[in-house]
Amino acid sequence: MKAKKLTGEKATDYIKDGMIIGLGTGSTAYYAIKKVGEMVRNGLKIKAVPTSKETADLALSEGIELIDLAEAKSLDLTIDGADEVDPDFNLIKGGGGALLREKIVASATDKLIIVVDESKLVDNLGSTFKLPIEVTPFSWKYTQQMIEKFSCDSEIRKEAGEIYKTDNGNYILDCDFGKIEDPIKITTELNKLPGVVENGIFAEMAEIVIVGYNDGHVEVL
Ligand code: 5RP
Repeated sequence: MKAKKLTGEKATDYIKDGMIIGLGTGSTAYYAIKKVGEMVRNGLKIKAVPTSKETADLALSEGIELIDLAEAKSLDLTIDGADEVDPDFNLIKGGGGALLREKIVASATDKLIIVVDESKLVDNLGSTFKLPIEVTPFSWKYTQQMIEKFSCDSEIRKEAGEIYKTDNGNYILDCDFGKIEDPIKITTELNKLPGVVENGIFAEMAEIVIVGYNDGHVEVL
């Protein structure tokens, strides 16, 4: 928790007056959003685009002005967490279920800043975390069968015994591909499948990765 707070807060050093920023989702992005709230109350003028309903609620409660992506057109920077980060800054995201909005916001962003604790650094994507894939509820089982042709095992995400629904009303399949050697190929192939809305590989999108360590130091990669 200390590591998450350190990295989340460190990322706010990049925010300047007048910027339009993207706000990520999750327990690390949480600390960045709390810090941005404090900065806004101290006079910082920014506008923000949230990546989930949860983040929108938190940002509003912190007094941060939110705008729609169409109004923003492009974002100066986005601060977001990740579930895995490889040495080339490819990511797995979507542990919190917000991968679709996170990818849209990331793609509209000049500088994607990823905030993670040291446990998220891996040599290969897929080493420690299953890849979340957002699928349409209509015929999700058929889409699952097509995804499993890529030699992965998958399970539908559940919450309190019920199928988990994203902010967009879709489902998530958590897919175990083992170590992912070619993230760009997998993300391209997966997104061609009918019924796949988006997958949680963020390839070649992150510009800066800030890592928090439990001993209290922070590293900017
Ligand atoms: C949500 C995400 C999160 O950024 C990711 O799951 C990391 O979360 P946390 O900072 O809580 O570990 O992708 O969809």
